[in-house]
Amino acid sequence: MMSQRTFSIVKPDAVRNGHTGAILAEIEKAGFKIVAIKKMSLSVEQAEGFYHVHAERPFFGELTKFMASGPIFPMVLEKDNAIADLRKVMGATNPANAEEGTIRKKFATSIGENAIHGSDAEDTAAFEIGYFFAGYELK
Ligand code: TYD
Repeated sequence: MMSQRTFSIVKPDAVRNGHTGAILAEIEKAGFKIVAIKKMSLSVEQAEGFYHVHAERPFFGELTKFMASGPIFPMVLEKDNAIADLRKVMGATNPANAEEGTIRKKFATSIGENAIHGSDAEDTAAFEIGYFFAGYELK
């Protein structure tokens, strides 16, 4: 597989709990290069735009309020097979089902507050990178 880019977020729960550094260390240990990263806070409207594919889901209100509840670290990551490999390093959405050693197993507290986001496909990665970063930030 050729080098590929994916998009990730250290979510507000992990930032609040002081796990940002440990999560970035796991990501680097897994072989990802951090192409771009920043600290910011989302408005509820910005969180709704990011998660628009989930707009009809019952957890949408709670999810978007949570994502706007404190600072996050959005980032662009690169390696071979980045999209699928990041999903493996993250673990299952619900930490109760996450494999031993995954980021969500170590740091997530619930299905809603699950420490990290990672794109699930090439088209969503492209949308999500463009939602948070301008081209000149992605050298
Ligand atoms: P989803 O895209 O299904 O999971 P993932 O983050 O693993 O790609 O869902 C997006 C986020 O929505 C998820 O990280 C947490 C939240 N969520 C809930 O709060 N409750 C749920 O039942 C589901 C499926 C997701």
